[in-house]
Amino acid sequence: MKKGLKVAVAGAGSGHTPGIVLSLLNHDELDIDEIRLYDIEKERNDDMNIIINFLIKKDNYKISIMSTEDPKEAFEDVDFVFSQIRVGGMKMREMDEKIPLKYGLIGQETCGLGGFSYALRSMNGFLDLVEKIHTYAPDCWILNYTNPETIIAESVRRKYPNLKIINACDMTIGIEDMICKSFDYDRKNWIPVYYGLNHFGFYNSIYDKKLNRDVMPEIIEKIKSEGLYVDDEEESWAKTWTRYKNLLEYFPSNLPNNYLEYYLFSEQIVEQSNKDYTRANEIMDGRLKKIKQTVRKIENNKDLNTIDYESSSHGNYIVDICASIINNKNERFMIIVPNKGAIRNFRDDVVVEIPCYINKNGAEPISLRFDIPDFHKGLMEAQVASEKLLVDAFFENSYQKALEAFTLNQTVPNAKLAKEVLDEFIVVNKGYWPELS
Ligand code: G6P
Ligand code: MN
Repeated sequence: MKKGLKVAVAGAGSGHTPGIVLSLLNHDELDIDEIRLYDIEKERNDDMNIIINFLIKKDNYKISIMSTEDPKEAFEDVDFVFSQIRVGGMKMREMDEKIPLKYGLIGQETCGLGGFSYALRSMNGFLDLVEKIHTYAPDCWILNYTNPETIIAESVRRKYPNLKIINACDMTIGIEDMICKSFDYDRKNWIPVYYGLNHFGFYNSIYDKKLNRDVMPEIIEKIKSEGLYVDDEEESWAKTWTRYKNLLEYFPSNLPNNYLEYYLFSEQIVEQSNKDYTRANEIMDGRLKKIKQTVRKIENNKDLNTIDYESSSHGNYIVDICASIINNKNERFMIIVPNKGAIRNFRDDVVVEIPCYINKNGAEPISLRFDIPDFHKGLMEAQVASEKLLVDAFFENSYQKALEAFTLNQTVPNAKLAKEVLDEFIVVNKGYWPELS
């Protein structure tokens, strides 16, 4: 085991940071010496520093923690950077969600036109972050889950083709955990085969090593007849898991990524959305308020026993990837990588999300042994073309390419609407987006 790792968390002011830090500290195959919290917003970062220091003292972890807004202090000589930056914060997420909804279109963080608005901010911020990390830690690994991930990964593929980066999303784990909780399976026994773009993919099979069979067909039947078990999740996630069944009623051959509902059932979802109170509002009233309340408890030395942060499944996922690199474990994860023939009947000049082995050299993609079906291929081709046009728009400062990207997006019925939403997004994203002309 490599001793004394140094890890930086970029975007450390996020409400996910305590879970990630605890996952890092509780992992028995990682020996961490130092965690550096980096955020461009000092107040958020200071708050998180207070919370993390409290958690560390409480459980007596031997580790050094610091928070900084200075990239040199944050990244110099680190072994890993975990990136979870959100350019524009929750306030801009709220715009991404509410503006398309005003036009009767899907308003979502990573899907549809909201996702595109976020992407044009996020590429700017993420590529700038990569530059900074590279200046101070040219050899470190970047474990990235900055959204929207296919678009971010595509921009990195173009600008830094040899970067030591793992682009990973926890959604497949989220789906699998949900299925296991609902029907009493154990994910540890599973070898899932999955393909697609990020938040836009399908399972082909889920082999259960203990049961010695592909359990995907029986899971599909169970979901169709019983639905998933939805407990006290936050409202918008509860709705998503409840609706998951609909995807299978229409298309029962494969388990889909839940995010496909935004493309396949956009109208019903818009109808069910509250145009004045979206997911961003839920988070500002929930996760973000909780940070402030926790800091107050610590500062006033009050109700400390009610502070309930613990390692999270999101944190465990990214930390397991980190351990698989450091200890050369060759474990399997779904990772976003350049296709290069891995999905043999899909274009090569794109990134896809597929199973990969993770070891000291990074991600080794596993080639699929079958052609993906035309229905999935067609959906993915339209999606990836629109995302690539958006990346073109970003690098070429092209309004025309942005308009083509917005028009091709599968949540948008016509070019006129695409243009109206694009023009409104240009105004609200001033200073965040590249100038388009
Ligand atoms: C999942 C997705 C992430 C996404 C998150 C949103 O974890 O994989 O890409 O950002 O959900 O969750 P939130 O609680 O912020 O709505
Ligand atoms: Mn994701």
